[in-house]
Amino acid sequence: MEMNRVSVVGAGQMGSGIAIVAAQAGCQVLLHDAEAQRIERALALIGKQLSGSVAKGRLTEEQAAHTLGRISPVDSLEAAAGADLVIEAVTESMPVKKALFVSLDGICGSGAVFGSNTSSLSITELAAVTRRPEQVIGMHFMNPVPVMKLVEIIRGLRTSDEVYASVAKLAERMGKTPLEVRDFPGFVSNRILMPMINEAVYAVYEGVASVEAVDGVMKLGMNHPMGPLALADLIGLDTCLAIMETLHDGFSDSKYRPCPLLRNYVSAGWLGRKSGRGFYVYE
Ligand code: CAA
Repeated sequence: MEMNRVSVVGAGQMGSGIAIVAAQAGCQVLLHDAEAQRIERALALIGKQLSGSVAKGRLTEEQAAHTLGRISPVDSLEAAAGADLVIEAVTESMPVKKALFVSLDGICGSGAVFGSNTSSLSITELAAVTRRPEQVIGMHFMNPVPVMKLVEIIRGLRTSDEVYASVAKLAERMGKTPLEVRDFPGFVSNRILMPMINEAVYAVYEGVASVEAVDGVMKLGMNHPMGPLALADLIGLDTCLAIMETLHDGFSDSKYRPCPLLRNYVSAGWLGRKSGRGFYVYE
């Protein structure tokens, strides 16, 4: 199963990163978002990242130009009609993702594979809204996508072996290491990462330590490259809350209860880097 024509739907920070690594793997990439402004922002970000890589000597001007030349912004979802693989990186909401997959199911050819960059939602449930459940798979990239080596590949209950093998091969072409995971809430990455982040928020909520001290303990004491609260700001606090809710609902276990302080921050619109304020303030 050749995967050379890739459509990325959702041009936020994850979608932009996925577009870059797919283009670097030699794929022709179409980038779509329901909001035209987000595509413009994504293209500016992609251009900036590529020129940064040229400045650091990691890419030649020519390689950067080739990568950029393989990414085409598209206004309409219908442009995904010729794709071998569609990767969705839209908001972390089951109804939104289901509606998108229903539309794509009507637009794309019968051989097209649908990948979801969901960080915790059920691939099996998403696949069930399409007429191609064997061709639906989780491709969970990590933020920042161009830097992080992992793609967690989630097999829905009905995902075929052939689709798994093709998607894993593409992840390797992107310079990533694919790791196979079964379809349970939060998969492996967020089942382990998010309770740690949530516990860090509890430590602040309960007055155990300041934001800086919690992060400092984990950086200096555990050699984490970023503290859990700075990482939460990078991921987005709304996404962190959505993932905790998926874990809490999916396992019906109080150990996954979201911290009330996390809820308050999200209610206040303090979503982390993307809104200019989370546990830290960004210029
Ligand atoms: N896009 C592209 N490249 C980036 C980048 C970005 N957003 N941010 C940093 N980089 C690059 C830099 O250009 C730099 O490249 P060079 O080595 O070629 O110079 C390299 O990454 C290191 O960056 P910095 O020197 O600026 O900073 P750093 O050493 O502190 O690294 C970091 C930054 C890579 C983000 C590091 O702090 C880190 O690994 N943090 C943890 C990230 C993490 O855990 N991600 C997973 C989040 S969970 C997730 O995404 C899944 C989910 O479902 C929630």
